[in-house]
Amino acid sequence: MNDNNTYRFDDEKRSIEIFRSDLPTPWINYLSNGRLHAFVSQAGGGFAWWKSPITYRMMHYRYQNVPMDGPGFYTYVREKDGTTWSPTFRPCETPLDDWKAEHHPGWSQFTGTKNGVTAKLKLFCAMDTDAICYDLEIINNSNEEKELDLFAYADLAQLEWTTDLFYGYYIQSQVTTFYDEELDAIIYRYQHTPQPFVEDVPLIWMAADRKMDSWSGDRDKFLGPYRYEQNPIGVERGDCGNDTIECGHPCAAGQVKLTLKPGESDRVVFTLGVAPGGLIKHKETLANIKTDLETFRSHDAIDGQFAKLTAWWDNHLNKFDCSIPNKDIERQIKTWSPIQTVHNGRYSRSTSWHAPGYRGFGYRDTATDMVGVAYRDPKWATDMCLYLLSQQFEDGHALHTCYPEDGPAMSRGASKHADDHLWMPMVVYAILAETGDYSLLDQEVPWLSPEDNWTTFGSDSVWTHLMRGVDFTENNLGEKGFPLTFDGDWNDIILRFSRAGKGESIFCGQQYVIILRQLLEIGAAAGKPQADLDRLRHCLDKMVLNLETHAWDGEYWRRGFTDEGDIVGTKEAEYGKIFINPQSWSVWAGVGTDAQNNSGMDNAIKYTATDFGLRLVYPGFKTYPHDPDPFTGYNPGCAENGAVFCQANGWVIIALSKLGRSEDAWKIFGDMVPHTALTKIGLERYEAEPYAYASNIIGPENKRHGWANVTQVTGTAAWMDLVGTQYLLGVRPTLNGLEIDPCIPADWKEYSVTREYRGATYKISVSNPDGVVKGIKEIKVNGQIIKGQVIDPTAVSGEAAVEVVMGA
Ligand code: GLC
Repeated sequence: MNDNNTYRFDDEKRSIEIFRSDLPTPWINYLSNGRLHAFVSQAGGGFAWWKSPITYRMMHYRYQNVPMDGPGFYTYVREKDGTTWSPTFRPCETPLDDWKAEHHPGWSQFTGTKNGVTAKLKLFCAMDTDAICYDLEIINNSNEEKELDLFAYADLAQLEWTTDLFYGYYIQSQVTTFYDEELDAIIYRYQHTPQPFVEDVPLIWMAADRKMDSWSGDRDKFLGPYRYEQNPIGVERGDCGNDTIECGHPCAAGQVKLTLKPGESDRVVFTLGVAPGGLIKHKETLANIKTDLETFRSHDAIDGQFAKLTAWWDNHLNKFDCSIPNKDIERQIKTWSPIQTVHNGRYSRSTSWHAPGYRGFGYRDTATDMVGVAYRDPKWATDMCLYLLSQQFEDGHALHTCYPEDGPAMSRGASKHADDHLWMPMVVYAILAETGDYSLLDQEVPWLSPEDNWTTFGSDSVWTHLMRGVDFTENNLGEKGFPLTFDGDWNDIILRFSRAGKGESIFCGQQYVIILRQLLEIGAAAGKPQADLDRLRHCLDKMVLNLETHAWDGEYWRRGFTDEGDIVGTKEAEYGKIFINPQSWSVWAGVGTDAQNNSGMDNAIKYTATDFGLRLVYPGFKTYPHDPDPFTGYNPGCAENGAVFCQANGWVIIALSKLGRSEDAWKIFGDMVPHTALTKIGLERYEAEPYAYASNIIGPENKRHGWANVTQVTGTAAWMDLVGTQYLLGVRPTLNGLEIDPCIPADWKEYSVTREYRGATYKISVSNPDGVVKGIKEIKVNGQIIKGQVIDPTAVSGEAAVEVVMGA
């Protein structure tokens, strides 16, 4: 149990129990089967969407956030005397005798008790059918018979979210809800036709596992005037009203009456589902709903769907297991980071309780997420890799934001970024290192048309796509020889230095060096033409020389150059004297001397350290480049302008581990574990989930120092996932096999890792008799000492016992 009795991790179950509903912010969980998605907070707030929250948003959620965290997945228990409460606590807010919420991988559960009645609500997405189950168990522990009314309610949205916001007052005449007697379901039909994929538009339905006693498809009639979800008139009078709409605001509500004798319990499952094709094949779609309902009217079938969901997660999470001396860090490495990486793989930076679901797939964001996904699910990473490469233009640069489910209208206004295409070699490397299957490089992928950023044409191999990315960077180097920043590199606000298009990015030059090294390795292993390899080598040598010549500031690495040729990230500057990214990426890129790189890291720590990670830049900009021309809208200490940008700390840890600076690396890694950061900073200041990384934590230059800002949807998850498993515990896939290269605290005597790799299970136990932080004395595989630190996968099958002895 956490100090403040707010939450407790259950590591066996890979879950968290939450004992306080009115947290400073919603602590959310995602429910999904890969097509139908939702998030739900500890208090039941959240919404569902099918495929994309832009085009198929099923429910509303209020991003302006007052009243906070709603609407959501609401259920009501109404007793005969009118007392009404919710197992999620919200929306009724009736004080309960006992309450807790639990978030598990892919499902959440809420347990409320009032007057001897316990209601347990399990929310999850069925795997084979696109429906969310509100699975309610009601237990009468009192010594009197209870007559109860149960209600489930969802505030339905116009599916196209932006038109709902801007033109909802017209489009409300293009929505219908109706009750289908035969199906005993309330059905919502959204018939605004200028949809990108008309044939996909789904009907949305709600039904119960038994005959509903009443229902509603009319939000305004169900809630009643000047009321809201806390006290719907339909619940108050114990009858939803059986209303439907032919224009207005849709909802789905259902009622089931129960009578429970003392000690009796019952289970009632309401289901909210989608059935695609409802606009053009109405009758067939209704028939499909009928088939779906056969599943959702059978508790066995529902349990089967739930078992399939938990099996998916178990399979994913079991791919890597570890036992290490620090349990807070262990939990983060083996459970919560990979869970968050899955969510990011699905939602990129688009949808959470902070992020309203408008951003589609960020090219670099999804690429980095796939680097994190590849070691557990190379098939998923491969599919996304091929998709991302199909969003690359023939000149080699890539579409910055992709909207695969939202059609061409969303893909307008493409910007050009220095880095997007440069993440793809990393994705390909991660996949190949995991699978060893080079046929990926020969797969044909089309090019994106610059005419509409949507249609594709022709095709070339994956290798050609990657080489075309090199072409783009080579064709767009600035005066100093570094990649032109254009609309930005990884840092979203760095474009302020390159408004005239001449600014250059040293950080991107370092990234280029890393991926050139990866491409050389891939190309050599896959037997690619010598001319390609020569070219890569030439580009690499040129950029390394350039970095050594122009990027060193005397004590640390610079960040770039402005349009005017001024240095960004220099001790001569008033603001932004030092950026941490070029310090860490220089180590990773293998550029400069150890002395330079250690000095860079020392200065990064000296100027930017806080109690819970390093700030991205110091000092934050107040104005730049020409007073009063504002550098950025971000106040000092916020986001990229001086917050602890968590993702960038992942790179710092990689660099520290490469330099063998275990103490610094583990301090930052340990301090940034969300549970530890929350505990150190305090719940009222940190506010956010103790199980999911934030994009950034406000820095000391700002009054709100310590606030975890934009949680869940951040590349931090994938990077911390990789940092923990591959750079600290040091079990890293390479093209030649699994490399063992730990960087651990000196006082660890031993730890173990179990990991699947190319069809075999590696049971790795590491001992550290001499108390070193890095270095291998001996590796035995199934009793045989191997040469070097890379285990040859061709010599392993089934299960491999790997004994590692660390030492000088
Ligand atoms: C946000 C963006 C990401 C960017 C990062 C740093 O996380 O989604 O694309 O790289 O900020 O600016």
